[in-house]
Amino acid sequence: MLKELQPEINELLSNGNAGMDERLQGICELLKDRVPHYDWVGFYFKNGDKEELKLGPYAGAPTDHTIIPFGKGICGQVAVSNQNFVVPDVNAQDNYIACSITVKAEIVVPLFLNGENIGQIDIDSNTPDPFTEEDEKLLEYINSEIAKIM
Ligand code: SME
Repeated sequence: MLKELQPEINELLSNGNAGMDERLQGICELLKDRVPHYDWVGFYFKNGDKEELKLGPYAGAPTDHTIIPFGKGICGQVAVSNQNFVVPDVNAQDNYIACSITVKAEIVVPLFLNGENIGQIDIDSNTPDPFTEEDEKLLEYINSEIAKIM
């Protein structure tokens, strides 16, 4: 079902008239609009040489967490673990940065460029325990396609 979004994702990413941020913005909006359990979709990238993440393009409510130190929250943990992090219930997490009280679950998938973890896609859901392997596969696909055009 989520796989059906791939042609539109490919089209957005291959739009040579748009810059990288514009393409990523398009991906965020597509995912948020079309996947019912995606309520906030954004990219974080390593902030230069600093051990922190910086918010990139996103769709959904503005967040105060535009800078996240490595190790902090779900995002900061993925920056150091290099692993997908699926959180079925954010309230059960100690190392979690809350953006909105409506959020119940979160998924973060790292983005690798030449084997290096340079950022991540982060999705918040207002639905409890909504994520399956299908979400992980879609987000891994998106990140690998993004890496190809970086
Ligand atoms: N919840 C994240 C912070 C980023 S917001 O979800 C946009 C975390 O714990 O890292």
